[in-house]
Amino acid sequence: MASRKRRHNGPIFEKGKLGMSLEANKMFAAVLTAGVAFMSAGVIGGLVVHPKRLETAAISIGATPQTAAPVAAPAAPALEPISPLLAAANVDSGRALAGRLCASCHSFTDGGRNGVGPNLWGIVNKNHAQVAGFNYSAANRALADKPWDYEALNAFIAAPNRAMAGTRMAYAGLPNTAQRADVIAFLRSLATTPAPLP
Ligand code: HEC
Repeated sequence: MASRKRRHNGPIFEKGKLGMSLEANKMFAAVLTAGVAFMSAGVIGGLVVHPKRLETAAISIGATPQTAAPVAAPAAPALEPISPLLAAANVDSGRALAGRLCASCHSFTDGGRNGVGPNLWGIVNKNHAQVAGFNYSAANRALADKPWDYEALNAFIAAPNRAMAGTRMAYAGLPNTAQRADVIAFLRSLATTPAPLP
């Protein structure tokens, strides 16, 4: 009996050890699963949310004069005055450019119809928003006591929206200075007596 008991003790002890190692395995597996779940949550979260890095700090601490100067520079690009270029400008080239860039909205003949934009006969030195029967923007009507002199035309044709915030002229602008001079020389020619050159 005693020897049988001893023999019996062995397997019980072994079974106990086996039980403990199973517990350890379960704990290890639990920790591993938690780790994998934690990692995949990060990866999936990254795929779903697409975090975007800010190019500059959202809040800047302290003054940064070096970056402030180049940021301010393009905000106010000086427009080259057009008046000195008009005498040598090419009216024919201006007519061709206007035909391509402006004629979809404007007519240029004396008594021509208003289209999307007003007729432009005699526009040089005429006050803003004066063409009869055209529905001007409030922004343009607010300038009705100011003439379309050469530099006003220059700024407006270069960048309508920048020159007149709220204008209804849906045209991006003509950035090329020489082409603008040609177009304005053509506009000047749209009169029985063209306005004097500056
Ligand atoms: C997409 C149509 C469109 C194009 C293209 C366009 N314009 Fe205009 N233009 C308008 C409209 C609309 C107005 C009226 C703007 C307002 O009242 O704010 C206008 C107004 C003007 C005025 C002021 C007229 C006034 O009586 O006060 C001038 C000058 C002018 N355009 C010149 C040009 C020139 C030059 C071009 C080509 C380089 C051009 N526009 C291209 C639609 C256009």
